[in-house]
Amino acid sequence: MNEARLTREGIRIHSPEDSAGMHEAGRVAATILDEVGPLVVPGVTTGELDDFIHRRVEETGSTSATIGYRGYQHASCISVNHVVCHGIPGEKTLADGDILNIDVTVIVDGWYGDSSRMYVAGTPSVKARRLIEVTHDSLMKGIEAVRPGATFGDIGAAIQTYAESQRMSVVRDFCGHGLGRVFHAPPNVLHYGRPGKGPVLEEGMFFTIEPMINLGRPETKVLADDWTAVTRDKSLSAQFEHAIGVTSDGCEIFTLSPGGLFFPKM
Ligand code: MF3
Ligand code: CO
Ligand code: CO
Repeated sequence: MNEARLTREGIRIHSPEDSAGMHEAGRVAATILDEVGPLVVPGVTTGELDDFIHRRVEETGSTSATIGYRGYQHASCISVNHVVCHGIPGEKTLADGDILNIDVTVIVDGWYGDSSRMYVAGTPSVKARRLIEVTHDSLMKGIEAVRPGATFGDIGAAIQTYAESQRMSVVRDFCGHGLGRVFHAPPNVLHYGRPGKGPVLEEGMFFTIEPMINLGRPETKVLADDWTAVTRDKSLSAQFEHAIGVTSDGCEIFTLSPGGLFFPKM
């Protein structure tokens, strides 16, 4: 049985009872991501999608972790096409063929549920669909590497090896993170790396894996709004994020879609 403690890298080892709180927070985040799906159609604005998410956060009795976080004012990040992450919802109207990531983090009984996934408005291009598939499968290959005794480098290597084998690139400028009763905790979960490097995984670690994969080059830049990160070469970018916990023999996913809708219909 694990006692709550910190590793020498500052990574919290949670007790088995803590998983229940993470499952509940993750379920609320995933439910809201399920519910917003039907609203993602050509003609809707990203601000309208965020309004719906904000309302559902309130109706579920949870708290948005992003509103007020470092001055951020919205219940979601919505990142369209070449936006890598941290897109600010607003007046932008979705067009046929747009692809977008919606990222929601809620707090339930003090526990954080953080997940994001891809959506499509109308019919995306073959290349865009392939990017979404490869990004999803990159996350799943990272998750499959999670078990006690493996390392964070094993996770990053699994993601990077697969994405690059499909001639796509891994964003280096943003990473996953520990979470639990805090939003962003050690370690930085890199989506690239070398097998055997980095901290060793232990039962009771909670963290996100949230690879951002680009069709073109990996470099990003942040726009003048200080949030919106875009690909420097304007190539399409995609991201999927799960919050997970290390178990005795692998991992548990806290943010599974209740409706089986994590991967978009397209
Ligand atoms: N949910 C994002 C993550 O995966 C963080 C968003 S912070 C915000 O870590 F302020 F931009 F909302
Ligand atoms: Co996250
Ligand atoms: Co997130």
